Amino acid sequence: EVKNLEEIFEARIARDEKIEPKDWMPEKYRKTHIRQISQHAHSEIIGMLPEGNWITRAPSLRRKAALLAKVQDEAGHGLYLYSACETLGVSRDELYDQLHSGKAKYSSIFNYPTITWADIGAIGWLVDGAAIINQVPLCNTSFGPYARAMVRVCKEESFHQRQGYEIMLTLCRGTEEQKAMAQDALNRWWWPSLMMLGPTDAESVHTEQSMKWKLKRKSNDELRQQFIDQTVPQADILGLTIPDPDLKWNEETGHYDFGEIDWEEFWQVVKGHGPCNKERMSARVNAWNNGEWVRDAAMAYAEKKEANKLK
Ligand code: 3HC
Repeated sequence: EVKNLEEIFEARIARDEKIEPKDWMPEKYRKTHIRQISQHAHSEIIGMLPEGNWITRAPSLRRKAALLAKVQDEAGHGLYLYSACETLGVSRDELYDQLHSGKAKYSSIFNYPTITWADIGAIGWLVDGAAIINQVPLCNTSFGPYARAMVRVCKEESFHQRQGYEIMLTLCRGTEEQKAMAQDALNRWWWPSLMMLGPTDAESVHTEQSMKWKLKRKSNDELRQQFIDQTVPQADILGLTIPDPDLKWNEETGHYDFGEIDWEEFWQVVKGHGPCNKERMSARVNAWNNGEWVRDAAMAYAEKKEANKLK
């Protein structure tokens, strides 16, 4: 019997086929990918700000070089993801406008300040650690360009996570003050890192449909649990205490039980009232405005080169 386009699409998803930009797709499938991929790209670009804050103050040339490389990678991940998003029929300028006007969301985690050098260690260890856990399943997502972008991104994220953990290890093996700095950073970054993986499954408006479309392969709570189970032993090796009195290994479930997350704080940050939301937005808008002459010069140069080629 003649199948309609929707049924053909569903059958392709069921067969784990990759949907490519020129393939037919339901409008909602397109829209949710523009939503998620653009937010992901914005998160990478905004994520450069808290880390960039320490490039000029890194404690050694080696640390400075590693942090420079990491921030540069984040920029590349952002551009990769903006390009994947453009294949869905949205322009780069539209995406930038959504970010700069405050309309677009980006990951809550980047609205917290980086107060000491230990924060750079905690971000690499915890934030990039959580990002890897969230991004590995995305390598297997149904939309081709997104899945392929994630393969490259995940490889670079594991370097980010390792350099962060090494910073924490160095501090924890250092002086009492250095170890206290690492503990302070863990205290401030632990709970926001758990929130980064999104609201609970019960609160998640997109999970069910995103799972059906094989965009989301594991739920927010599953990934959060995986992150906790993987990270607690790492904190033990560092000799640091996770700031959650309810954290306890549960022999039956084979997972750590953990305390209540402050979802009020999460939604406040998502709505723009976090510690650094305003600062992040103005940094981006200023960079965009102050960089206009660079973009114009690059375009003028490209046009001149193009014109010469035609002569
Ligand atoms: N920060 C801000 N908003 C968030 C959020 C967070 N941490 N978690 C969820 N939200 C928003 C969602 O965008 C959605 O709002 P919307 O409808 O306006 O888009 C709402 O809260 C409901 O959440 P859902 O769980 O229903 O939404 P999703 O199904 O999209 O799940 C997600 C949220 C798990 C973050 C998913 O979007 C995702 O996997 N995104 C791709 C990964 C990503 O963006 N990571 C961000 C960090 S990038 C990074 O870490 C860089 C690294 O190099 C450090």
